Amino acid sequence: MNYLSINEIDNLKLWVKEALALKKDPIKYQNLGKNKTIGLLFFNPSLRTRLSTQKAALNLGLNVIVMNFDKEGWALEFNDGTVMNQNKSEHVKEAAQVISQYCDIIAIRAFAKLENKAVDLSEEVLQNFVKYASVPVVNMESSVGHPLQALADAITLEENKPINKPKVVLTWAPHPKALPHAVANSFVEMMQKQDADFVITHPKGYELDQEITKNCTIEYNQEKAFENADFIYAKNWSAFTDYGKVISQDQKWQITADKMALTNKGKFMHCLPVRRNVVVADKVLESSNSLVIEQANNRTFSAQLVLKKILESLS
Ligand code: CP
Repeated sequence: MNYLSINEIDNLKLWVKEALALKKDPIKYQNLGKNKTIGLLFFNPSLRTRLSTQKAALNLGLNVIVMNFDKEGWALEFNDGTVMNQNKSEHVKEAAQVISQYCDIIAIRAFAKLENKAVDLSEEVLQNFVKYASVPVVNMESSVGHPLQALADAITLEENKPINKPKVVLTWAPHPKALPHAVANSFVEMMQKQDADFVITHPKGYELDQEITKNCTIEYNQEKAFENADFIYAKNWSAFTDYGKVISQDQKWQITADKMALTNKGKFMHCLPVRRNVVVADKVLESSNSLVIEQANNRTFSAQLVLKKILESLS
């Protein structure tokens, strides 16, 4: 069993229920991973994913090896038949097979480079490890998705929803740098599995991949979208059509207390890290309606549930 996208989840309600049970008793399955090893390979920086996935693995009794592949590994070649006489020292074919000798599960973080849309959409790093590794692979944020984050968000929504069918708004927010679409993509895919009134709001030109947002309600007026919302999920992403470009940094899209006042005492969500007073005002982030720390806490139980299911599939 791999965990590559939120679409691996057959029944989100049941997965969330099981994750909440793990949260109540995190060390119940502390022998499940005994004498097994997970390798966490980071091609990009991380705080939450790195620590929460380690914590989840330790709760299950797994040994953990962490490698900052971008700084410590050989530069990898991904193309077939390349004459490797330039700056790439090792092919992913050998690397993935070798790591599979040391690890029972491989987890990978490899962001979109936002240089070549086709390469990013192919999830080059993740999918090549899936192809050549002989052990299960977990997506710790690929160029397309961040399914561990989306599962943690589903847990957080379940714990905090005021009604059975809440209004949830995913809003674009400004940012000085071009950011990938992975968090927004997986959040949309997760929301499509929820019983919710779901609205996406962003400036024109920031449409996400329409293959992912098909059937979603898009509202270009942010304030209108916020009306009566129970949850506001803020995230920046770069343009998808004009791929990887920052076409606006309009501070009018920042999440402020005035805008939150339009909601139904709405809770504020963000995956973190977040740029204060650019994406969201201090007052919102520090308010009692902010769920960002609980979202980060739930990353442990999201990862733990996924690793538990993989370990059970191995035995
Ligand atoms: N939300 C998230 O994935 O955080 P990190 O990038 O710090 O892992």
